[in-house]
Amino acid sequence: MTGHPHAFLRTLSGEVLSPPPIWFMRQAGRYLPEYRAVRKEAGSFLDLCYNPELACEVTMQPIRRYDLDAAILFADILLIPDALGLDVWFAQGEGPRLEPVFAPEVLDRLDPANIHDRLSPIYETVERVRSELVPEKALIGFAGAPWTVATYMIAGRGSKDPSALRAFAYEHEDAFNDLIDMLVTTTAAYLIRQVQAGANAVQIFDSWASGLPEPFFRRYCLEPVRRIAEMVKVVVDVPVIAFPRACGPLYEDVAAEPLFAGVSIDTGLPWAWAAKHLSPHGAVQGGLDPLLVVQGGEPMREAARGLLKAFAGKPFIFNLGHGFVPHTPPENVAELVSLIRDHKG
Ligand code: CP3
Repeated sequence: MTGHPHAFLRTLSGEVLSPPPIWFMRQAGRYLPEYRAVRKEAGSFLDLCYNPELACEVTMQPIRRYDLDAAILFADILLIPDALGLDVWFAQGEGPRLEPVFAPEVLDRLDPANIHDRLSPIYETVERVRSELVPEKALIGFAGAPWTVATYMIAGRGSKDPSALRAFAYEHEDAFNDLIDMLVTTTAAYLIRQVQAGANAVQIFDSWASGLPEPFFRRYCLEPVRRIAEMVKVVVDVPVIAFPRACGPLYEDVAAEPLFAGVSIDTGLPWAWAAKHLSPHGAVQGGLDPLLVVQGGEPMREAARGLLKAFAGKPFIFNLGHGFVPHTPPENVAELVSLIRDHKG
């Protein structure tokens, strides 16, 4: 192993390491030929998520290839709606589709009591990965934030116009609050089980946290994720990373929340601003534009050096501002990793 032992968890507890730990959002996925082979063998994407042997295999693939500091459980944020009893499927080339919850009555059908029956293969994947990973590397568990998961549940798909979702939240406020509460409780229970099975940290993805009015953001993004962290920490002692993607200056309030050991920053947040306003509160993770890794070459190297420089002397975890896209050349990822590992700062 070329990085520092336990670098990911040490950074989350505030230590400054040079070079910093590295992992990438969507490090397992279609840009890797070995992933595509396993995916074909598994059948559908959900079949792969619920197959512990194959899900463990794809979780480990990027670790073997790049010797990264952390593995992230191979699963999806939409397994919670699936486990609640909503129909979820992944149409080829179209992304996720769900039976939409546009009528509050659909909510009455959801069953939060038995989610672990459906999710138990995920806990088995965590156990398998933890036993395959060397102890010096971390395993990250994850879930979607209630707001982001709710947007998929209400729209029935990834939404190009999130204003329709706010309209639903305003119009059916009671039903919407019930949905958020149900997602808080089930997500906390799901993350606790991941940690009990061996996850060393958890990340909560709020991919649709951008462009919201401040009170709405506080009520439906920050507060539910804070409650999840609180519920998790009552039972298990792990660092929690928040990823309220593209929430702009509201990142500062998220970082200041003591329940979060770190925040993951998106592609658009200025690094100097983040280093000044977020780093004093804990670890910062992320930032590199995933599309620069598609391009590779000097623009990628220059951006990577700039990112290392912006967070020099601060607890920092090297990552992207959002996940790798499918046409990322794996060789560019290898080059990026060796550049960071060789960095002297
Ligand atoms: O390597 C990892 O990062 C771990 C696995 C992981 C996946 N999804 C696998 C996946 C993680 C952490 C996620 C999180 C996720 N899923 C998010 C939050 C992060 C983000 O990207 O904003 C969201 C919004 C989802 C929902 C989702 N799942 C979408 C929108 C899609 C379709 C987009 C696409 O790339 O096809 C998925 C499918 C999905 N999740 C794939 C993978 C590897 C591709 C499925 C396939 O193999 O065909």
